[in-house]
Amino acid sequence: MAKLKWRGGTLLSPVPPAMVTCSDGEHDNVLTIAWTGIINSDPPKTYISVRPSRHSYEMIKKSGVFAVNLTTKELVKAADWCGVYTGAKVDKFERCRLQKEKASEIDCPILAQSPLVLECRVTDVIPLGSHDMFLADIVAVDVDEALVDEDGKLHLDRAGLVAYSHGEYFELGKRIGKFGYSVAKKKTPQRKK
Ligand SMILES: Cc1cc2nc3c(=O)[nH]c(=O)nc-3n(C[C@H](O)[C@H](O)[C@H](O)COP(=O)(O)O)c2cc1C
Repeated sequence: MAKLKWRGGTLLSPVPPAMVTCSDGEHDNVLTIAWTGIINSDPPKTYISVRPSRHSYEMIKKSGVFAVNLTTKELVKAADWCGVYTGAKVDKFERCRLQKEKASEIDCPILAQSPLVLECRVTDVIPLGSHDMFLADIVAVDVDEALVDEDGKLHLDRAGLVAYSHGEYFELGKRIGKFGYSVAKKKTPQRKK
């Protein structure tokens, strides 16, 4: 593969266009965050990188909590809208018809329409340059019960999740493998007796 050499940039792809909810106790807000990910398993930890100029920034810094609401194809237009307009001037919940639900562990609303929500408590704020990184413990997960079967297995593939890639949104497509399938032993066909 002949490669062009570009200067360093943010071209990791795909990333989640997560809808992050926050509150300062008086007002609630939601903004879209693509700079997020999982950074530790035990304890479960995540981060969001937020520009200090965002209205949400001070809310998260002051409250020390936020929720990462996963975005579905039904939510993606609202996610885009919440990533363009500021909560300093408009109630994004009202404008995008986003319903609030109470979180179980943190003082911050979560989105009723999101199938999976990470409730997060900030442990560190790390200034990086353009963005500050909020490192956080994931203290609870809220899952749409319709995605969990009678054996307790989560079927996240049925949630209609959305990926963000180089400025565009994509609905997740067909499954092409699963964890460990490349090393799984093939089942030997049973001989007919
Ligand atoms: C797909 C998408 C991803 C975004 N990712 C980030 C991000 O990771 N960090 C950030 O600070 N802003 C990000 N933004 C921009 C904010 O969501 C946007 O500035 C928003 O209006 C801020 O809202 P607020 O002022 O109400 O906090 C993103 C916007 C979009 C549309």
